[in-house]
Amino acid sequence: MTLHISPDARATAEACARQLAGWMAAAIAQRGIAHTALSGGSTPKLMLEILAGFDVDWSRAHFWQVDERGVPPTDAQSNARMIRAALVPAVHFHRMKGEIDARQAAAEYAAEIQSALQDAPFDVVQCGIGDDGHTASLFPGQPLVLDRSQVTAGLWVEDKQQWRITLLPKPILDARHLAVLAAGAGKGPALRRALHGEIDLLRTPAQLLRGAHWFLDEIAAQSAK
Ligand code: 6PG
Repeated sequence: MTLHISPDARATAEACARQLAGWMAAAIAQRGIAHTALSGGSTPKLMLEILAGFDVDWSRAHFWQVDERGVPPTDAQSNARMIRAALVPAVHFHRMKGEIDARQAAAEYAAEIQSALQDAPFDVVQCGIGDDGHTASLFPGQPLVLDRSQVTAGLWVEDKQQWRITLLPKPILDARHLAVLAAGAGKGPALRRALHGEIDLLRTPAQLLRGAHWFLDEIAAQSAK
């Protein structure tokens, strides 16, 4: 695990955006293209707005989703909507179809990933962590957190009473670079378990990300101790 702790949420978002831009530039320099998967929720918004202002070769940067809620792309809850609104210059955006059957959307997304990446990994995956310790749409108690072979899943999330489409652990852990962005005291208990607790993936799926680069603000880092 590599911890990047910044004084406040804005500085944390900036540090994460800078790191993502650097990883993308390296991928573009080495392979001519960068494939980056982005999480949803509210935390990445500022980070993506900052990233949008960086000097990125947008024509060679492909963006993907880590997860999506079972809603149309026009819905206020749609992660695709948030990403598109925040990352205005992104030309290539591969959307999970929250408006169709989640299992069908997951299968289509896995096929799209396979066709674009062949068997190569994502260059960058950026995840978040929920207050309950979930990451992507792998919530506590979900046995798919233990799956190491499939790429995506469509699943019903009881806690949220919502269908979700999500990347599974394999593409997340295979990523060339893995970042987690979290801010605020509310994440403290989940972060503590994710970073330092005894491994129990079914209880705290975000423990999957232990080896990642963690971008935290001071409050989150302190509350995780
Ligand atoms: C989602 C996510 C999710 C997110 C965490 C944290 O659709 O909810 O992609 O996994 O990363 O829930 O979300 P917040 O940033 O809103 O706290």
